[in-house]
Amino acid sequence: NSSPSTTTPPRPLSTVSIKNLIESIQFASVQPNNASSTINKTEQRRGHSPQHFYQNRILDRYVSQPVHTITLRQLVFFGRNLTEERLIQSGNYVRSELPIRLAHRIHDIQNLPFIVGTNPRIAMVYDLYWSAFEKLRQFPPIKTMEDNDAFCTAVKGLLKEHLVVIPQLAMGINECSGHIPEEQINRFMYKMLRSRLSRRVLAEQQIALTENWHDPGYCEEIMSGGYIGVVSTRCNARDIVEKVAKMTRKLSQNKYGIVPPEVLLDGEQDTTFAYIPEHIEYILYELLKNSMCGVIEKHAPASSISRSTRTDNISLSNSSSLPPIIVTICSGPTDIHIRVSDQGGGIPDEIYSHIWSFSSSHKLSDDKKSENKFLNFEKVPKMAGTVEEQEDAMIPPLLHLGIGLPLSKVYTEYWGGALKILTMDGYGTDAYVKITRLGNREENLL
Ligand code: COI
Repeated sequence: NSSPSTTTPPRPLSTVSIKNLIESIQFASVQPNNASSTINKTEQRRGHSPQHFYQNRILDRYVSQPVHTITLRQLVFFGRNLTEERLIQSGNYVRSELPIRLAHRIHDIQNLPFIVGTNPRIAMVYDLYWSAFEKLRQFPPIKTMEDNDAFCTAVKGLLKEHLVVIPQLAMGINECSGHIPEEQINRFMYKMLRSRLSRRVLAEQQIALTENWHDPGYCEEIMSGGYIGVVSTRCNARDIVEKVAKMTRKLSQNKYGIVPPEVLLDGEQDTTFAYIPEHIEYILYELLKNSMCGVIEKHAPASSISRSTRTDNISLSNSSSLPPIIVTICSGPTDIHIRVSDQGGGIPDEIYSHIWSFSSSHKLSDDKKSENKFLNFEKVPKMAGTVEEQEDAMIPPLLHLGIGLPLSKVYTEYWGGALKILTMDGYGTDAYVKITRLGNREENLL
């Protein structure tokens, strides 16, 4: 079940790093001009032009087509014995699949209550989706490697343009939460985000395989690093936990100005498995961050905490008097299980019942939000009046969207895994992550 610890494989050319991933989710930098021009375009497009009616008939044709899901294993097998022909074949799969997946989500936005569609942030996402849909559906069939390169360049541009989607969606939906029931918000958001993740995986895999193909050291890299596109076939549990523990400890030390709790590893630490490392890193990052916050706020004497003191220059000491966070790894026959266990005081009932919700206003009343440490809430700014003010409000610095846990669930469930949280209010919390070991489950897009 487990194999000896391996060194961290070298990164392939175009994988997204965990740092990029977190930044794209939390602080995606919007080019102000793009943002306002997108909003202006949306304003122009709305209204009931005959063109809009025609476009919708095209959309319907795509919505009526089923999505062709894949498994992690297929992603690996396909990329393993790559030939030009296969690369072109997978390029055409991505080219035809992306517009279908986008069309389904555009249709979902259209079916939201009218008032929600008028929110400028939701409208901005809608507009981005339409323009990507149009670009991708009109892209001619890929016949040569040059066509494939051109396709990858176009898709790279779209990936970048869509970095704003998560913060805009999350803020937009929160601004509208008075108009839709929590259950509907969550159904909509989970579908939107799973589908987004799936589109980005398909796109990033095609780009990474193509870049590898053009790289003269390609075969060597595959052999030594175990990467096939964005998938690492040798993710090592210990390496990943240690890397994320270091990141979250540094983050906590910067935030609280004290030595953060240690992270101790237990169980089958040398387990290796095939996965997209950034996905598991993101999940563990969110869990460890919450655990550290909880432990520090419960156990560190208030006088020792100096909030927002930057301590970059202090080396991250291992020894802490705070109760450690225990990460246990189990390598089962079909799944890898990871438990993150803390003594951070647990989660109160009124928060626990909404931890998977994307709707902050349904989660807590305003006064509770400001005092809640667990969900990391900060008020999402309302859209201001002028375009300049809107631009300013677009991505506030250090914005906490309060969606770390639901997003981790999206990541875990995408390849058929599961994320569960059990808590003892007053003592601590256990989070259980289950991810596929065999990679044989279809993408979960429901
Ligand atoms: C997204 O990131 O939302 C996408 O749909 C990306 C895809 C158009 C390549």
